[in-house]
Amino acid sequence: MAKAIDAEKTRAKRMKWWHDARFGMFVHWGLYAQLGRHEWVMNRERIPFPEYEKLAATFKPKPRPARDWARLAKKAGMKYMVMTTKHHEGFCNWDTKQTDYNSAKTGPGRDLVREYVEACREFGLRIGFYYSLMDWHHPDGANCAKDENARRRFVDFTQGCVRELLTNYGKIDIMWYDVSWPLSSPELWESANMNAMVRELQPHIIINNRSQLPEDFGTPEEHIRAEQAGRAWEACMTFNGSWGWQPAPPEDWHSTRRVIDMLRQCSAGCGNLLLNIGPKPDGSIPEEATERLTAVGKWLEKNGEAAYGAVTRCDNLFEWMPTGAFTLKGKTGYFWCSRWPGKELVIGGLQAKVKGASFLIGGKSIKFEQDKERLILKGLPAASPDKIAGVTVLKIEFASTPKQILGAGCVVI
Ligand code: GLC
Repeated sequence: MAKAIDAEKTRAKRMKWWHDARFGMFVHWGLYAQLGRHEWVMNRERIPFPEYEKLAATFKPKPRPARDWARLAKKAGMKYMVMTTKHHEGFCNWDTKQTDYNSAKTGPGRDLVREYVEACREFGLRIGFYYSLMDWHHPDGANCAKDENARRRFVDFTQGCVRELLTNYGKIDIMWYDVSWPLSSPELWESANMNAMVRELQPHIIINNRSQLPEDFGTPEEHIRAEQAGRAWEACMTFNGSWGWQPAPPEDWHSTRRVIDMLRQCSAGCGNLLLNIGPKPDGSIPEEATERLTAVGKWLEKNGEAAYGAVTRCDNLFEWMPTGAFTLKGKTGYFWCSRWPGKELVIGGLQAKVKGASFLIGGKSIKFEQDKERLILKGLPAASPDKIAGVTVLKIEFASTPKQILGAGCVVI
């Protein structure tokens, strides 16, 4: 209990970098990549252990693929990474003493987590560890819910893994738990105790909410919705519908524009975006991800001010508009115009006086008129100036914190 209160007291300080970071890369990589049919393939296709386990011997990644991931993350404007150290399949991507089912003792013959950690450090990215509590391979992974001895063994195994991960690799920034099946309470998982150990080993670490305790941040999955004000959150999203490597036609991958819009949504709600790549069996990055993330990075290089840093929640600016949407920093609004209207842009229902408007890139000011109902930006180019993704950001300075009220009716004169 005392430990939990300490964690609360230090939360704002521990999480400052994370809030500023906004954008991270999730990496799902394990034996399942070799089958290319989603990371749940073992369960969904009911593959028996002896058959699935053989994938450990044939897992032969190329040298140090994590350097490619980290290089791309950096280029994309991402500030941190989270990699699967062990997914539900139970295969450990590091050199562990807890089980021989690991990357050092089987096919790869290497500590893949160490390579990842080193790559993050080389490219100046913060480091997160994903760890699945659920384990389909461990003999007690399911029985632990029915048999106290099995539970004891499994919790010891789990804490042993977590202890190794947070002891052997230097400073780690994020502990990202996943699926806490089959134990039905944090008491059975001994989560408070486990997270106290985590913090003892890594006092600065940030912990997610999937060990059945709320901890530092919420993790909406495959949708972007702000949690209640004051609660940190990070939306985790697949790139093409599968976390693990699964081939998909180009149109099934999020477009550059879509990724930029996801970032805007997160930023508008003071949340983060953790966007996934599922490397191929040899560790190389799917071409679609490279192409789109490179473009997102180019866009962010110029427009980052609208996304990163100390944003204000747009709770009062969430009216939908046919032309775009806002992020906000105090009295400065950033209108991400993704459907360019031509020479004039009209934003209705703003309840604050506008002091100035300009293009975020280049800072050229924009003429405007404002009456009680409408802000009209004038003399704009006929086509969107942004050639990367067709998302041009307009910076609007308000005299007071802006609000937008549109309702469903029309203006009555
Ligand atoms: C889900 C899935 C899992 C994935 C995770 C990412 O819980 O079970 O495969 O790793 O979401 O958030």
